[in-house]
Amino acid sequence: MWRYRNPVDVKFGAGVFETLGKVLAGRAYCLVTYDDANGGGVFAEFARRVVAQAGAPAVTVSNIGPNPDFTGLTQSCQTYASSARPVEAIVALGGGSVMDAAKVLAAARGDFETVRRHLETGKDGDALGRTPIIAIPTTAGTGSEVTSWATVWDTGAMKKYSLARESLYPEAALVDPLLTLGLPRAITISTGLDALSHALESTWNVNANPVSSSLAEVAAREVIEALPLLADDLTNEALRTRLARASLFAGLAFSNTRTALAHSLSYHLTLHHGVPHGIACSFSLPMVMRAVAGCDAACDASLRRIFGDDLVAGAACLETFLKKLGISPDATAHGIAARDWSRLVDDALAGDRGRNFIGRREALLAEMAA
Ligand SMILES: NC(=O)c1ccc[n+]([C@@H]2O[C@H](COP(=O)([O-])OP(=O)(O)OC[C@H]3O[C@@H](n4cnc5c(N)ncnc54)[C@H](O)[C@@H]3O)[C@@H](O)[C@H]2O)c1
Ligand SMILES: [Fe+2]
Repeated sequence: MWRYRNPVDVKFGAGVFETLGKVLAGRAYCLVTYDDANGGGVFAEFARRVVAQAGAPAVTVSNIGPNPDFTGLTQSCQTYASSARPVEAIVALGGGSVMDAAKVLAAARGDFETVRRHLETGKDGDALGRTPIIAIPTTAGTGSEVTSWATVWDTGAMKKYSLARESLYPEAALVDPLLTLGLPRAITISTGLDALSHALESTWNVNANPVSSSLAEVAAREVIEALPLLADDLTNEALRTRLARASLFAGLAFSNTRTALAHSLSYHLTLHHGVPHGIACSFSLPMVMRAVAGCDAACDASLRRIFGDDLVAGAACLETFLKKLGISPDATAHGIAARDWSRLVDDALAGDRGRNFIGRREALLAEMAA
């Protein structure tokens, strides 16, 4: 028996950004986006296009930096609370950091303390807000436009939380590949690898189902084929479209399964070594794949549809693919001392996401010793 569910109204294609006015239908909205200084100048132009079709926002929150944390989100909530009109919808225009911040704003309703208390104690979830979100991703990507959770970082206490509520599924996702045309090469690669990691992590996952696995297979094949081409041809609309679709499919896949070991390992690297999320959650994929091959027939079948019949050769191909994009599959290249690695793997296996992993610890340790 299995179940697949995703309630987000997804619109995809070049130009769907221009349907935002219709989707908002006159509601007073909060625009959440980056300070333009972080976006290489494109975000002021994107914001102008929002206003042209939807009128001025009731309030704009633009202090979002990579990996939203308690301090920045406290300020974001204060800005949200300063709106002269009650906010009826939140427009999240940006990558995962913006979409996740929008989810926090939707839950906090202007008071970050309610979210902080819930994250720290797990209590009072029902008291959180549920302002509708319209998600417009500008990276490809996190898939946050079709998931019901947000990653929230407490950089002071060096902790990572997940704010997860069914009510945080965006009302609508407008996935317009043209918005990603200006993404620099390094961010194109790291965000594309995040999508690949979501696809593979939903495959080697205790929660996998036939729908999530089918979406994941398409997504993984697409990223592996199209990302190296895109890395050398950044303004190619057809390739941008393939990556945007792959990221969306991966998002739809892991919206039902959540992630697994590679993501569980990534949080330490991001918190303690500043490794961007997409690199932190993808450098270990070949190792994780070797440790999972042979553990579960359905997972093996999925991996064969992505990598071909020989999964040992497939893991080697994955490693070559990462190296060609400039990503070392070796943890020490990302700041981890060799002596700390096995403890990190054990911590990651014990974490929430690590428990979704269907592979065996012994196989992982053997991999590491190899
Ligand atoms: N909620 C989820 O389901 C989910 C899934 C995966 C990751 N995440 C979280 O998402 C965050 C990472 O998000 P991200 O990888 O999308 O990056 P990001 O949102 O942090 O953005 C990275 C950089 O890209 C720039 N940028 C974004 N779009 C651009 C564009 N179109 N043109 C030029 N520059 C642009 C931004 O200004 C920023 O400097 C992390 O906090 C991660 O934990 C959430
Ligand atoms: Fe991710």
